[in-house]
Amino acid sequence: MAELLDGKLLSTKIKEDLKLKAAEFEAKYCRKITLAVILVGENPASCVYVKNKIKAAEFIGIKSLSFSLPENTEEKDVEDLINNLARDKSVDGILVQLPLPKHLDEEKILALIPPEKDVDGFTAENVGNATLFKDCVNSCTPAGIMYMLKSINVPLSGKHAVIIGRSNIVGKPIALMLLKENCTVTVCHSKTVDLKSITKQADILVVAMGKAKFVTSDMVKDGAIVIDVGINRTETGLCGDVDFETVKDKASYITPVPGGVGPMTIAMLMYNAYTCALRRENV
Ligand code: GUN
Repeated sequence: MAELLDGKLLSTKIKEDLKLKAAEFEAKYCRKITLAVILVGENPASCVYVKNKIKAAEFIGIKSLSFSLPENTEEKDVEDLINNLARDKSVDGILVQLPLPKHLDEEKILALIPPEKDVDGFTAENVGNATLFKDCVNSCTPAGIMYMLKSINVPLSGKHAVIIGRSNIVGKPIALMLLKENCTVTVCHSKTVDLKSITKQADILVVAMGKAKFVTSDMVKDGAIVIDVGINRTETGLCGDVDFETVKDKASYITPVPGGVGPMTIAMLMYNAYTCALRRENV
């Protein structure tokens, strides 16, 4: 039976520590750390994520400026909003919740966020620096996964890490972070042939594909660390991309859904808002 990687517990500790740091920041610089959160449309999952991000900011003492724009907002209006927030000296971080409605050009919109306010680590500059293993704002979900892996003190060097999914938000950046820790990394995706033969070799298996309970125990090596990034809404409630009930008996560690990677993503976002604010004060 695997040990649970409790993201809820770990993220609470991080947020409590950030609460102290945010208070110190406020006392020292006579202003609150400020995070702008932009949501376009009413994607139900995005609405929940944004609500949870604002709630976490409130808990820590980070001021959030929330912008909820209608689904049919024109590109120019989103661009104007970001340009204003980019110029606003009181704003430390700008977050555009993804996915954006189809008529909006995600790449063009993200490029307007100044890298020093890019709390998601999505801009080309931050992604480029991450690729070069240079100092950067790390993308939140993979940063949360790395934090969890480091929390269990298992050596990562030389481990075979297999990732299912190659998205810009999770698959690509987690591959780089694991590579930085000297893992041997394999990235699988929808065109991968004989997926099971590869996942069975994984010492660390990161699943971010968006298919409910796709990874079953026959796809997992005995003693593997299994990280489930999926959040799927089914008739029986939320579940991950991993069939938790069977895989838990084979893995050494496993993340639950909900309560695993999700809360860690939010904690890392808050950490990024804090570090962006510090850097903007030239610390
Ligand atoms: N959509 C899914 N995950 C994320 C995330 O980490 N940040 C943003 N901005 N949008 C997302």
